[in-house]
Amino acid sequence: MVKKAIIPAAGYGTRGLPITKVIPKEMFPIGVKPAIQYIVEEAMEAGIEQILVIVSRSKSMIVDYFDESLELETFLEKSNKQHLKGKLDIPKIQLYYTRQPYAKGLGDAIRLGETFVGNEPFAVLLPDDIIVSKKEGAITELIKQYEKKRASIVGLKKMEWNQLHQYGVIGGKKETDGLYKIDNIVEKPKADPPSNMAVVGRYVFTPAIFPLLKSLQVGKGGEFQLTDAIQDLLKIEQCFGKCITGERFDIGKVEDYLDIVLKMKKE
Ligand code: G1P
Repeated sequence: MVKKAIIPAAGYGTRGLPITKVIPKEMFPIGVKPAIQYIVEEAMEAGIEQILVIVSRSKSMIVDYFDESLELETFLEKSNKQHLKGKLDIPKIQLYYTRQPYAKGLGDAIRLGETFVGNEPFAVLLPDDIIVSKKEGAITELIKQYEKKRASIVGLKKMEWNQLHQYGVIGGKKETDGLYKIDNIVEKPKADPPSNMAVVGRYVFTPAIFPLLKSLQVGKGGEFQLTDAIQDLLKIEQCFGKCITGERFDIGKVEDYLDIVLKMKKE
């Protein structure tokens, strides 16, 4: 069973400047909830019981948000606004936090979760990618496949060929059920992507990924890349990709952010 998840939320959010100077993109409001709450709820629906959030110096707002606010509660009670107290409810899940001291990439951030994870399979949810699903959440889809295959699985979406340079891209063989057996994976290929199947921000890993994260060389963009660790994992274990069914919004892109705000208004 997959019971633990890591949410890496330490990036600078440079695509969202200037607002990300003071508001982490994970805290961008979608209606009255911040983006990261959708991610936490998706994990909880999948049966995740403990989440490690990787933060950085400028992300204390995330920690504050998921804390009780006694001051506000008392204020609502004293001012006869008890009916609003429910709005202060925070997701009932055990959250842990650690700081990534230097922005050295996604691979480095996930590596910080080694002690938290121990010797168990675990999920990773990138909070930039909000995935709206009609039936089950994206991470539930991956965990179900993990239960069948007992192997690491990455979330996939078919993309336009001219978009692939923004993603990790897999090469592999298609099986049934939207499943791919991965042969190779490349981070943000400049040319000749191995397919048009891109990695979206949902993963389930076996703990075998940790030694590989620790021995990573600096990769694309001068950062330690999770994708490179997956490429190394392929040498020792099978890995799969699963096409996820929900609609994906990359809130690092202004257009996607505005789209999801409107979509949530309608629902
Ligand atoms: C990260 C991963 C990339 C993946 C993408 C999905 O890139 O490195 O492999 O395709 O997330 O959103 P980033 O968007 O952080 O540059």
